[in-house]
Amino acid sequence: MIKSIEKILNVQIEKESYSSHLYLSMASWAEAAGYEGISQWLYVQSDEERLHMLKFIHYVNERGGNAIISAIKVPPAKFDDVMDVFQKVLKHEEFVTASINEIVALCNNEKDFTTLNFVQWFVAEQIQEEKSARAIIDKLKLLGKQNLYLLDKDIMAMRAAAEPVGGVA
Ligand SMILES: [Fe+2]
Ligand SMILES: [Fe+2]
Repeated sequence: MIKSIEKILNVQIEKESYSSHLYLSMASWAEAAGYEGISQWLYVQSDEERLHMLKFIHYVNERGGNAIISAIKVPPAKFDDVMDVFQKVLKHEEFVTASINEIVALCNNEKDFTTLNFVQWFVAEQIQEEKSARAIIDKLKLLGKQNLYLLDKDIMAMRAAAEPVGGVA
């Protein structure tokens, strides 16, 4: 496997790992604050990010490279409120989208069309990831705090409609 591609994919492994860790921290915060549905949404999101990480690990190893498992930086543990959490989810997903786009650009430069094909799943996935974060922020904007309880119940139902393209794993 081309060295520069192996290197950028290993950076992405670290980013997906951090994504999982970040959403786990948010899930734990929401659970402790009593938001049952929101915490469950975030726990499932954390699991999905771990699957993203595994997809990259398996791909690098199967193509003759070496996937590297590195230390994960400590995610934030405190959040102002639910809006703060989902604004941070969206910001993080936009960061990951930019990162996936960098991989696409490098694949084109290196004429690595095999990895380009592999990474297309993530291009589509990022559209869904940003879309679901924006959908929740839009709902939060429409709500007063007294209705947050109802949104919390509604949010798990949204997950079924926001299945990632191509499914998980
Ligand atoms: Fe991801
Ligand atoms: Fe994500």
